[in-house]
Amino acid sequence: MALKVFGMVLSVLCAGGTLYAEEGKRVFETYCWGCHHQTAVAFGPSFEQIASKRNAEEIRGMIVDPASVSKAFGYERNAMPAFKLSEEELRSITDYILSYKPKEVK
Ligand code: HEC
Repeated sequence: MALKVFGMVLSVLCAGGTLYAEEGKRVFETYCWGCHHQTAVAFGPSFEQIASKRNAEEIRGMIVDPASVSKAFGYERNAMPAFKLSEEELRSITDYILSYKPKEVK
């Protein structure tokens, strides 16, 4: 069931492109802006940094369960709270973050 949903999300992400961009921006401004900025490092890493090294599954995992996922990412302490977002919000914020993936990896 979860796998099926994730598959659907992936195909929407790939096919949808900018479909969720506006909703993603809203989710970002509502929940994430205090600690993350798009390209500048704030309290947490920038979306640009995140998008350059994480895939959609990893980003979703971090939002839903930062306590365990941050450990898997190598952070010693977890300073990010967990968020209970709707499926649509999760999809759009993940898409929004990945839209900051740098074109060229330096
Ligand atoms: C209270 C501050 C805070 C808020 C609010 C916050 N974060 Fe974070 N986030 C952090 C910090 C600090 C880290 C670095 C890891 C840690 O300390 O757990 C982080 C790490 C992350 C990572 C993983 C970084 C990596 O190494 O790849 C992702 C993805 C992420 N945040 C997404 C989000 C999203 C999406 C939201 C909004 C829904 C959000 N964060 C809201 C503080 C925050």
